[in-house]
Amino acid sequence: MERLLVVGRGAREHAIAHKALLSGKLEVYVAPGNGGMCPPIHRVPIQETEIAKLRDFIRHTKVDYVIVGPEAPIARGMYDDLHDLAVVIAPPQKLSFLESSKAKAKYFMETIGIPTASAVIFDKSRQADAESYLRGSDYPLVIKASGLAGGKGVLIAHHPEEALQFVRESFSGARFGAAGHTVVIETYLPGEERSAFILADGVGYAFLPMARDYKRLREGDKGPNTGGMGGYAPADEATWSETVREKIIEPTLHALKKSGTPYRGFLFVGLMMVDGEPYVLEYNVRLGDPEAQVILPLIENSMEEILYYYRIQKLGELKVRLHEKYAVGVVAATAGYPESPQTGQLLPDLPEEEGGCKVDERTYLYSAGVETQPDGKRYATGGRTYTVVGLGASLKEARQRAYAGMEKFPFEGRHYRTDIAIQ
Ligand code: AMP
Ligand code: GLY
Repeated sequence: MERLLVVGRGAREHAIAHKALLSGKLEVYVAPGNGGMCPPIHRVPIQETEIAKLRDFIRHTKVDYVIVGPEAPIARGMYDDLHDLAVVIAPPQKLSFLESSKAKAKYFMETIGIPTASAVIFDKSRQADAESYLRGSDYPLVIKASGLAGGKGVLIAHHPEEALQFVRESFSGARFGAAGHTVVIETYLPGEERSAFILADGVGYAFLPMARDYKRLREGDKGPNTGGMGGYAPADEATWSETVREKIIEPTLHALKKSGTPYRGFLFVGLMMVDGEPYVLEYNVRLGDPEAQVILPLIENSMEEILYYYRIQKLGELKVRLHEKYAVGVVAATAGYPESPQTGQLLPDLPEEEGGCKVDERTYLYSAGVETQPDGKRYATGGRTYTVVGLGASLKEARQRAYAGMEKFPFEGRHYRTDIAIQ
């Protein structure tokens, strides 16, 4: 059997591990994982930052493939650190600017003509200019901390006062630390948001189903932005995916290749579809969470096949097949998320089968903020706790399964949105 190491600890990583397990041909390890992950998934007690330990583990265990889930280790250079030992599914550090610097990503898009909101960029040495720009602008206006801010670095400002306050707190470091020392201020795009994903191997790429994420905490897209409260896939009306390939994916990959560092790994493009035309809101150098939880269970090709095509750099020839029509995922979080999530809630019995994922034939649970105490009981560690995913022949059927699954795993103060995939 070949061996796969997944780096990360969330529901996205649980979904990756589950998909790998189902191939029946991979031994699956997750570092560090979380307390909801069960055998035959092997948890490895190494943190995402412990490169020397990861290297030792890969050598001793003879790991063949490494999939890096979250952005932080990719931005720190995990591909560069590990690729001499195993096939690493992640981009080199040099390309992580696409996610870790919204200012550089904007410049890249403008240079190569990728459709995106027009923007001006200020760093903190130009605070006075930024403030006078904000006083003289029309609203709404979108302001983004340039660096990694865990999905919380964006304000849709409706009047100058809140814009000025955001920019001052961003420049001072009070709000996002150094990640806020540069801001991107851009025009507001009205439209429908979508997430597009590819897996690229340095030569070609496979286009994965597009997904929709629900970022706001509350029903009707109200409340603060979160990491994502649910989603569904596929979410590509009409010929959207063709348009996205042609206008966004192909020119992006072409430009990176021309720059001398072809893209490899998952690329996630956050899009606003404006009258059927795609505009890039952001690039991410990884799979989305909760998007991965609804995309991966839909794909019929085994993880082993996908990894093989990645290794031989023939993903352009891989036919991505879906074995179910729709997947809907609903995220359960602890009370207080995202501002000040409560912790320590006792969790009910979670699934044990298929690595802790199988609720029933077409319902899965992917755990995130879950820890197992020495007494064997599981507790929430705060924030997003798990995602329940339902599959179905229609969006409605998939949604019903997901919500029926949610009923089975209540805990104190649990919050979830009741309107995921209701169109
Ligand atoms: P980002 O991290 O850049 O994807 O932004 C976070 C969220 O802010 C997005 O998911 C959108 O909902 C919203 N957003 C970002 N940029 C814009 C824009 N130019 N126009 C409208 N909404 C935006
Ligand atoms: N769900 C959005 C993200 O993973 O960034």
